[in-house]
Amino acid sequence: MVIGMMGFGTIGVGVYELMRDQKDLEMRYVLDIRDIGIPEATRRAEDLWEDPEVETVIEVMGGLHPAYEFVTAALRAGKNVVTANKYLVATYYDELLALAAEHGAAFRCTAAVGGGIGWLTALERVRRLEPVVALEGIMNGTTNYILANMTQGGLSFETALSEAQALGYAEADPSADIDGLDIMHKVLLSANVAFDVSLPAGEIPTFGIRNVTDDDVWNFKSRGLVCKMLGNARLEGEKVAVYVQPTLLPELSLTASVPANFNLITYETEYTGRMSFYGQGAGRYPTAANVVQDCLDLAGGVKSFYSGRARRVPVSNEIAHYRYYLRTCSAKKDAVQEEQWGDASVTRLMSVAEMKKLYDEILPEDPKVFAAAIG
Ligand code: HSE
Repeated sequence: MVIGMMGFGTIGVGVYELMRDQKDLEMRYVLDIRDIGIPEATRRAEDLWEDPEVETVIEVMGGLHPAYEFVTAALRAGKNVVTANKYLVATYYDELLALAAEHGAAFRCTAAVGGGIGWLTALERVRRLEPVVALEGIMNGTTNYILANMTQGGLSFETALSEAQALGYAEADPSADIDGLDIMHKVLLSANVAFDVSLPAGEIPTFGIRNVTDDDVWNFKSRGLVCKMLGNARLEGEKVAVYVQPTLLPELSLTASVPANFNLITYETEYTGRMSFYGQGAGRYPTAANVVQDCLDLAGGVKSFYSGRARRVPVSNEIAHYRYYLRTCSAKKDAVQEEQWGDASVTRLMSVAEMKKLYDEILPEDPKVFAAAIG
């Protein structure tokens, strides 16, 4: 299968290297604006969709533009697309799937969620037989690296974030990691595939870890709790709850034990129950491996997305409830406080929707507010 690739950054170099040993895959073009010094290099994006022998276009350039323009041009020319770009797929989900179907092209994005874990392909497989009712987990290596190192290594937030950046886990703009946007895209894609829906990205609440402090971590530890950043989605009847939030878990639980930048993602189905997937969720070779695996699937005849045409549904977070750890100087906490942990409040049971509303009211008054669900 002849392939053109857009992007020769961290992931692109990994794909290029892993593909060299694959006799069924031929890399013909690599698009990059820089001088990348390989024989396949081109600066002309059109090469990838004008060459009739190119069957599949890989997009690993990241960002929304020009990735969107290039991917849609490739689909219109009937090329299969393989991408690791969760931001692109989550934002243009309906349009990209419709374009692929209209032009008889396959669209695969396994590396977009869970990096090296074959999570979307696992969801695709399980949902053939039984309904998925929920999914949750650690879907971001950077925030797990930060929280694990603050909890076990006593590092400050800033030091742990710098280390995650140096190790190549963090997004180009790490706010996407620490404010939860990266997880929001991953949980949206997972829920869309798991429940055969199309969720509106703008409606999914994300509570980030930008404001977590050493004192918060100490507060949790002294109570046998560990803070983890989780994506969650649950289907109840026709309603889908979906949200991203720091969550306090008993220190001996499986999720609380996940170290460094590892991911642990779990789905729950009607008959099999809970099934968890653990591994490297970021980094050059794990992510590149799933891109190449998608290409091998295509070369082997897979010609599809992971689920069918999706129904548009709103986010219904009034069906999910937690007590929250809420550290704020705002008096707005008084109306919901049930307990006090050091300087922080523990709220009564609240829906995620209610907490989101309160959090948004507190934020202008107290930009340092931190909230975590008690899981
Ligand atoms: N910044 C992401 C992470 C990269 O830390 O998991 C993989 O999506």
